[in-house]
Amino acid sequence: MFKKILIIILIIIVVGCFYYIQPFKSMSTNTANGKIQYNQNCLSCHGKKGLGDGPLAASLSKRPKNINKKFKDIWKPDNRLTRQILLGKPKSGMPAFKGVLSESDAEDIIAYVRTIK
Ligand code: HEC
Repeated sequence: MFKKILIIILIIIVVGCFYYIQPFKSMSTNTANGKIQYNQNCLSCHGKKGLGDGPLAASLSKRPKNINKKFKDIWKPDNRLTRQILLGKPKSGMPAFKGVLSESDAEDIIAYVRTIK
């Protein structure tokens, strides 16, 4: 009885980790599309490397996030990052990209930014 419960708990933990980290997600992303979408939609504020130093950055009341650093943080799950991109933070100058970008475009952008040195 105790063993069975232990096995069930173990399964829940493993499935939970896969859901949270999504280790196979990167196999289906398209960094070439990510680069095009990034340069078109994000570079003006977040800068060429995502450091938050794009040409429009100085004119904003809030400094764009350093997404180069943020996207490489292993404690930030991809689905949370895509949500942040699609919903934005309209009050502080980060536009919502829902309707402009699809969820898979957002995933491609994240994958592309991770390849920038
Ligand atoms: C008009 C300028 C502008 C554009 C264009 C822009 N951003 Fe932002 N972004 C910002 C600003 C300003 C912040 C900081 C908001 C804050 O700290 O409250 C930000 C914050 C973020 C954050 C952190 C959001 C959070 O909830 O903490 C992410 C992720 C992000 N941007 C990704 C992107 C991506 C990806 C694109 C392109 C699809 C993009 N941004 C385009 C200005 C911009």
